Amino acid sequence: MDKDLISNDSANPHFAAFLTRLSPSAITRRRLLQVGLGSAALSFFGLPALAGPTGRAAIGFTPIGVSSDDAVHVPDGYTVQLLYAWGDPISNGPAFRADAGNSAAEQAEQAGMHHDGMHFFPWVVNGQPSSTHGLLCINHEYTDDGILHPDGMAEWSHDKTRKSQNAHGVSVVEVELGELGGAFRWQLVRPSAYARRITARTPIRIAGPAAGAPGMRTRDDRRGNVVFGTLANCAMGHTPWGTYLTCEENFNAYFNGLGEPTADQKRYGIRANGAGFRWHEYDSRFDVATEANEANRFGWVVEIDPWQPAQAPVKRTALGRFKHECATVVLAGDGRVVVYMSDDEAFEYLYKFVSRDRFDAREPAAGGRLLDVGTLYVARFDADGKGRWLALQHGQHGLDEGSGFADQADILMRTRQAADVAGATKMDRPEWLAVDPQSGDVYCTLTNNRQRLTPEPGNPRAENIFGHIVRWREAQGDAAADTLDWDVFVLAGDPENPDPARRGNSKGDAFASPDGLWFDRAGRLWIQTDVSGSVLNRGDHQRFGNNQMLVADVASGEIRRFLTGPKGCEITGISATPDARNLFINVQHPGEVAGGRSSPAAPLAGSGWPANQFAGVTGGRPRSATLVIRRADGGVVGS
Ligand code: FEO
Ligand code: CA
Ligand code: CA
Repeated sequence: MDKDLISNDSANPHFAAFLTRLSPSAITRRRLLQVGLGSAALSFFGLPALAGPTGRAAIGFTPIGVSSDDAVHVPDGYTVQLLYAWGDPISNGPAFRADAGNSAAEQAEQAGMHHDGMHFFPWVVNGQPSSTHGLLCINHEYTDDGILHPDGMAEWSHDKTRKSQNAHGVSVVEVELGELGGAFRWQLVRPSAYARRITARTPIRIAGPAAGAPGMRTRDDRRGNVVFGTLANCAMGHTPWGTYLTCEENFNAYFNGLGEPTADQKRYGIRANGAGFRWHEYDSRFDVATEANEANRFGWVVEIDPWQPAQAPVKRTALGRFKHECATVVLAGDGRVVVYMSDDEAFEYLYKFVSRDRFDAREPAAGGRLLDVGTLYVARFDADGKGRWLALQHGQHGLDEGSGFADQADILMRTRQAADVAGATKMDRPEWLAVDPQSGDVYCTLTNNRQRLTPEPGNPRAENIFGHIVRWREAQGDAAADTLDWDVFVLAGDPENPDPARRGNSKGDAFASPDGLWFDRAGRLWIQTDVSGSVLNRGDHQRFGNNQMLVADVASGEIRRFLTGPKGCEITGISATPDARNLFINVQHPGEVAGGRSSPAAPLAGSGWPANQFAGVTGGRPRSATLVIRRADGGVVGS
């Protein structure tokens, strides 16, 4: 996805008195303060941590080298299983056709393309979460229409538009661990009453302060409270009440904007021809000239209850509208729900939502409503290592009629503009957020920003081509706090790079463009990379090889490479069973070419994965896929 355009030309301060803060010890290490309240927060992370003698489990595998070949590699003693590839039926549906000949209707019963964020929801048996049976929710971020159809984008049509839309969205699939020929294997349960595809055409309810606002109403939806579909579903979150949050990231790509976009459209990157998807030719919702408000109905966090297959998903507008990458949920000390969120574009912002009301575990079904009432904040990082959460609330921080905001719904629909006015810190493309289950510290990947000219707090490098990971601790260890202390956990890049401006400081293996980020319950930090295909295995990036996944010990700072992916892919999506013995990850867009659209005449030009690595898999096209990684001896993955 093209990330080179900048939509933020606001004059937010660049801090002259910049201070690089690299020392992990700069943040005082302390556990969450309130025992009772802290345990409420920690209980959301699942079972008790498998802590080692130092309180944090060690990394136990031998790291692997970089790779540029067309296969997935993992350390000795680990196995990789292909579970769910683009085109696989979600239930008793149609099989994948190697020539991409499946119809639009068939695609709606199959795995979408370009798997991304994901979460495993365990079955609960006698009050205990299962590690052998559950539901997987998987995002399908976008499509390569060059190989989605037998002849690519030639003769663009109504059916191709429908198929493309049906290859977007989310899969909910039921999965189970079984024994086959003496070996343990995960498989989809077929048929399954829970199996479901949510696509760019599925009816979705709109809730929260912006529901029904004038700017949310369209010709088809005069009340402004129902929209067809979710798209650009990138990363995700999950809630203490058992639902999945899917985040709409590059929604602007699908709209055919005006030749002369309005200032508000420009701020969200809505431009003529979008990113070349051509949906607008057969679905006028995506033509801004025909339906000016449809684009306002995308760019939200969408809640899905995987346990209620007949229930419509809900767009939660209180969480703001931007290019949502990730929505990581924790409970504050007093039980309020806190959602950490990121807007993935150069010079965009970090956000958090704090609910007004507290989560009550005795009433989990009421949980979703907590996401409709609360305060949205944006982060300002200061040069002294402190930071502040600025409420994007009408009447505060200059957000009023005088600055052009009619009401709170207006602030939420134009969250980026509100954050500009409030004075947030421009970040280097914030992607995933992960909360350390042991300390409560929040970690965020800043994937890269080659357009940064001046460092500023939280973003220490000019021309940041390799990215970094920033972290912070909320005041008093309380996720709902107004202030924080931050530092930089690691600068990506090769520690051996002769150019100090590009040198990384990883203690261990080198990597670039961190994106996916996740803590296992024992406190190991898993880092996934997304170096763009335009620089992958070239120039300064050659030394990193294909995209990969690494594991960090946040106490010592050590980082070891765990997995390398096939050609042209990014590694993304990560979740585990409660016993930590099965790790699910996604390989997205193997073989992706510059511009993101492959030639149908040579569909395997970029990659032959996964059919080239796994026996019995239908090939014909490179296929994004979910993998399961296990230790051959059945032990805890990563230990
Ligand atoms: Fe969809 Fe920012 O990655
Ligand atoms: Ca990402
Ligand atoms: Ca990325």
